[in-house]
Amino acid sequence: MAGEKGTKLGGPRSVATWNDGSDYRYITVTKVNPAVGATVSGVDLSQPMSPEVFEEVHRALMENVVIFFRDQHMSVEQHIAFGRLFGDLDVHPAAANATGHEEILVIAADENSARANGEAWHSDVSCEAEPPMGSILYIMQCPPAGGDTLFSSMYAAYEALSENMKAYLEGLVAVHDGEHVYRGLYNNVADKPVYPRSKHPVVRTHPVTGKKCLFVNRAFTTHIVGLPRDESDAILNFLYNHMEHPNFQVRFQWEENSVAFWDNRCAQHRAVWDYWPHRRYGHRVTVKGDAPR
Ligand code: SIN
Repeated sequence: MAGEKGTKLGGPRSVATWNDGSDYRYITVTKVNPAVGATVSGVDLSQPMSPEVFEEVHRALMENVVIFFRDQHMSVEQHIAFGRLFGDLDVHPAAANATGHEEILVIAADENSARANGEAWHSDVSCEAEPPMGSILYIMQCPPAGGDTLFSSMYAAYEALSENMKAYLEGLVAVHDGEHVYRGLYNNVADKPVYPRSKHPVVRTHPVTGKKCLFVNRAFTTHIVGLPRDESDAILNFLYNHMEHPNFQVRFQWEENSVAFWDNRCAQHRAVWDYWPHRRYGHRVTVKGDAPR
């Protein structure tokens, strides 16, 4: 079993559609890893974008699951405007309104923090009925070392499964629950909060690329509907361990004024909080998505 798995993970099925970036005319797209992640340069995110440049940035995201930009300088309004090019913006259910703009989720940890955002592998707010299409994180202050973010391609993870496992997962639906994640964090609800809870297919088809990808995650998914609990736990744990294989991952080392834009429909991410007591600070805007199918 280990040998078979090792062969698959190292083989062509773990590699996303290869594009060497040479067919971009307006921006430069440089792959970081074969399966996931590319650095985009030649664009200033604070400025209005022509339809041609927008099309290429969007295509770079579709082809690479997560894209990275360096040396960007955006005001809160410019960050929101960049996000709105891709759709309406989500207001995070547990967001403190720290900037005066409800679309901005502050991502911050320092010596007084008891927790940091996103420390478990997850797809943002997958407990919502229509989870976000993408998230755009702009980090303005970095610790002296550490504070990286890991991203994993759920296309690559799905493609590396055996045909038997793919057939088993087809048609299964899982529950994604926000309560255990957000309990005590809703500061904008006067009465008893209602936490988001939704059912989504275990394997979804990306609405733009048409490719299949896994859509369960450690943070929000509690169980697969209609399976005995021990079978559901075993399958989910297998998938979670599988998704974390390094062949499907990229590890982004932040510098101040970097931006990461990930496609929540086909990526999971995990923030590494290894820098206490130092400070890391940034803003995230989150683009609304649709119901997974
Ligand atoms: C998150 O959006 O989950 C946080 C990611 C990060 O802080 O790197």
